[in-house]
Amino acid sequence: MNRIFSGIQPTGNLHLGNYLGAIRNWVNLQDDYECLFCLVDLHAITVWQEPDELTANTREVTAGLLASGLNPNDNTIFIQSQVSGHAELAWIFNCVARMGWLNRMTQFKEKAGKHRENASVGLFAYPNLMAADILLYQATHVPVGEDQKQHLELTRDIAQKFNNDFKVDFFPIVEPLIFGPATRVMSLRDGSNKMSKSDASDYSRINMVDTADDIALKIRKAKTDPEALPDSAEACAERPEAANLMGIYAALADQSLEEVCGQFGGSTFSDFKKDLADLAIAKLAPIQEEMRRLMNDPAYVDGILKTGNEKANDLAAPVIREVQKIVGFLIP
Ligand code: AMP
Ligand code: TRP
Repeated sequence: MNRIFSGIQPTGNLHLGNYLGAIRNWVNLQDDYECLFCLVDLHAITVWQEPDELTANTREVTAGLLASGLNPNDNTIFIQSQVSGHAELAWIFNCVARMGWLNRMTQFKEKAGKHRENASVGLFAYPNLMAADILLYQATHVPVGEDQKQHLELTRDIAQKFNNDFKVDFFPIVEPLIFGPATRVMSLRDGSNKMSKSDASDYSRINMVDTADDIALKIRKAKTDPEALPDSAEACAERPEAANLMGIYAALADQSLEEVCGQFGGSTFSDFKKDLADLAIAKLAPIQEEMRRLMNDPAYVDGILKTGNEKANDLAAPVIREVQKIVGFLIP
């Protein structure tokens, strides 16, 4: 049986990178797989979150998922902290994964930066919790953006070591699903940094809640280079900002990068940016309108999550019980 699991942090500033790199793919997969989508609030608190904002952002990101087209009846949409199996399995994986494995994680290095000694223990153990999220449901496929690839390799290592150590064939070896023309959307201010919720500059990203004017302004101000637009995908390789903007256009227009280069190669950035802004505004408008409507109806959003939490708990309970037996915990 194929089962999909993916997660998103409820940390505000849901952006175009999240939509193009992850959420839109989830919408396209939902008809063919049994899917679980999780608001990973335990992951969010690995860095400081204001409690009121965490609550509000959990509703906002859920509204974003629903507005993007995830169907809450066919999928399980739920909150990580409300299914205790995530934390329980993560603890067991803390005892399976090796320090050396986690020391290699580039996301920890990026997020902890020079202040490694001051980072939370949770931030270091983050990938073990992520492995627990997925394996708690024995999920087989995980659709994510490119930045999560290394964490999924660790998930495979943990599953393999658990199976080997306990001489069982219990956890599946998960397959990452990283696809589409926008697996890594870059910052609008710097083509060598990914677009991120935590970037201090709001001009670095297009937020799902931005107005049409915000979107047009941010695209107008986006960093470019002095040349005309490249006319082939190869020529994009040396031009990170052009490649990023043209990649965003391709993703929004459902075209290949090559097609967009054919259409706009040789044009000026200013002409292209007008077309890109019009396209982004047109594609995002219906999602944004629905998102605003849902954010004004927190009771509805909470109801969806409550049902999702129950479904997820029902799926997780027998797996946790089995893991406890495998590990040798006495269940009197
Ligand atoms: P996060 O916001 O870190 O919880 O990420 C949620 C999902 O969005 C994950 O699948 C990420 O891989 C994906 N994602 C985040 N940022 C980007 C980006 N700049 N480009 C493409 N995908 C992204
Ligand atoms: N670490 C992921 C991110 O920041 C979010 C996440 C948590 C996740 N658990 C997951 C993604 C399980 C896929 C599967 O984007």
